[in-house]
Amino acid sequence: MDAAVYPGSFDPITNGHVDIIERGAQMVDKLDIVVLVNQNKKPMFSLEERMDMIYHSVKHLDNVEVHFFEGLLVKYLKKNNIKYIIRGLRAMSDFENEFQMALMNKKQCDLVETIFLVSKVEYSYLSSSAVKELANFEGNIEDLVPEYVNEKVVEKVKGGKK
Ligand code: PNS
Repeated sequence: MDAAVYPGSFDPITNGHVDIIERGAQMVDKLDIVVLVNQNKKPMFSLEERMDMIYHSVKHLDNVEVHFFEGLLVKYLKKNNIKYIIRGLRAMSDFENEFQMALMNKKQCDLVETIFLVSKVEYSYLSSSAVKELANFEGNIEDLVPEYVNEKVVEKVKGGKK
């Protein structure tokens, strides 16, 4: 496989995302992390903040690039001549939504294939939403996100409470 895309809203990137990125990057020559708009979610972090946190979290991987795309994921894939989408699966509860998204993307472009990587057990309970909720109530998120992201989330929560 020459290239793949790892799409998401990354609000913020977690250790679970980083694990999938590290494993995905080993499977391809080039992995594009693409920050997209999820119309069902209202982000806590701006696009620039999310991309900055991703850059800091994946800078040790030399075949990984970080991009933003406003629009359909399949348009990004077509524009960049990429066939493969990598997504992480944490639990059965992810499946329905992921299944629908994979079929929708396939319907838009038949050449597209979605590859699911099963998350490590230790990350199966981890989500960006849980990280934000914990941080909002002053819980400890140190083991859940990269160190730089921890700093940024704590800063954001403190800023919001001033
Ligand atoms: O990290 P998320 O929020 O689960 O990622 C979902 C995301 C951003 C990959 C998805 O909402 C998406 O692909 N958005 C772009 C619009 C699109 O192509 N939608 C078609 C899928 S139904």
